[in-house]
Amino acid sequence: MSEIIVQGYHSLKGELEIQGSKNAVLPMMAAALLHKGTTVLSHVPRIQDVFCMMGILESMGCACHLTGHTLTICARELTGVRIPEEQGKAMRSSIILLGALLGRSREAVVHYPGGCSIGSRPIDMHLFALKKLGARIEEESGVLHARTKGMKGTVIAFSYPSVGATENVLLAAAAAEGTTVLRGAAREPEVEALCRMLEAMGVEIAGIGTDCLKVKGTREFKDIVYDVPGDRIVTGTYLSAVMAAGGEAVFTRSSPGHLGCVIEVFEKMGAHIRVLGDTIQIAMAGSPGNVSVETKPYPGFPTDLQSMMLVLMSVGAGRGCLKETVFEGRFATAKELHKMGAAIIIEGKEAWVTGQRSLSGARVRACDLRGGAALTIAGLAAEGETKVTECYHILRGYEDICRDLRSLGADIWREA
Ligand code: UD1
Repeated sequence: MSEIIVQGYHSLKGELEIQGSKNAVLPMMAAALLHKGTTVLSHVPRIQDVFCMMGILESMGCACHLTGHTLTICARELTGVRIPEEQGKAMRSSIILLGALLGRSREAVVHYPGGCSIGSRPIDMHLFALKKLGARIEEESGVLHARTKGMKGTVIAFSYPSVGATENVLLAAAAAEGTTVLRGAAREPEVEALCRMLEAMGVEIAGIGTDCLKVKGTREFKDIVYDVPGDRIVTGTYLSAVMAAGGEAVFTRSSPGHLGCVIEVFEKMGAHIRVLGDTIQIAMAGSPGNVSVETKPYPGFPTDLQSMMLVLMSVGAGRGCLKETVFEGRFATAKELHKMGAAIIIEGKEAWVTGQRSLSGARVRACDLRGGAALTIAGLAAEGETKVTECYHILRGYEDICRDLRSLGADIWREA
């Protein structure tokens, strides 16, 4: 099983273009299913989750070609409505295919989704919304069979702004008869990106970027060429890397407009950050100061950068508290950081971290995608060698974290 090996204590310096966003491209690929024609996406990240989604689309009769970072999806012939069990379980986002398939083919067969082990991750809101739109959903032995005589616009109110459930509603409503009003929608930039793409495909959407979306369905979609935005979580990961290791770097296509809260927290911790258009410059001297932070739905501090914060707080000065309010059970990485000498006490949803100023290299296990990336960052700030095992999790969302960090001067490589 492949491992990432990091020799710590090298400060970073350099410039890097940020890859396209994982969480934006996956629903965009699902949207391509709605259209009996061709969709071209540019700046597509070459990551495992994209390859997995391509495999699912191909198994249903779509033609997918990824050349460099340009992905062409032709969904003219759709022969299947069943998501293969293995891929469906490997990737939680496969659940958003439910809305797109119901919209396109009026039927979908999906296994309960998998993905990162960061809490129970139920799908009750997805099912509630799709049923309101006119789907009949039966479950037998972990397999969901959804059918509809035709989706019809309706009013849906969410009690919590679920990203995936919002995307599922958008995809189903885009092909429904009439107008759907979704209240309590997620406002994540990736939801906005999906709305903008659906608009380009010919769907009328009002309220984009707010928590109330009005979607007028259509049966006439257009061929489009669309650009995937930069990955704000990858930007946040590499900003954390510079803060943990020290040094300076410039990140292009870095989505600074979607990182307001993160930039504010990192500045409070001592980073010098300048934003120029879509470029972020960061410089860090000395250890980060400690802060107290709470993860929240957008525009709050993203849960996907919580593990990186644990690392920064561990090498920082003083004591801080990190509260996880989005996913329970997302503190698994703390246990691994203990092996490197971090002082973290978990009390329910809170992690109390006492800064140590230095960590020591150790053999640690990537428990999930973002946790694995965070342990890699911890290795940069640790004395000696760190080995991150089970790093297949990291490949789900980062094109090549070793290549990227090496281009900034880190001593890091992957062994098969
Ligand atoms: C998406 C992102 C993920 C990110 C998360 C929160 C993708 C592919 N993944 O995940 O990286 O960490 O948003 O920003 O875009 N919930 C329910 N019932 C539901 C749906 C969700 O109770 O039907 C709960 C979840 O258990 C969790 C919370 O709502 O506690 C947030 O989940 P959600 O916003 O749906 O996250 P995902 O779409 O799974």
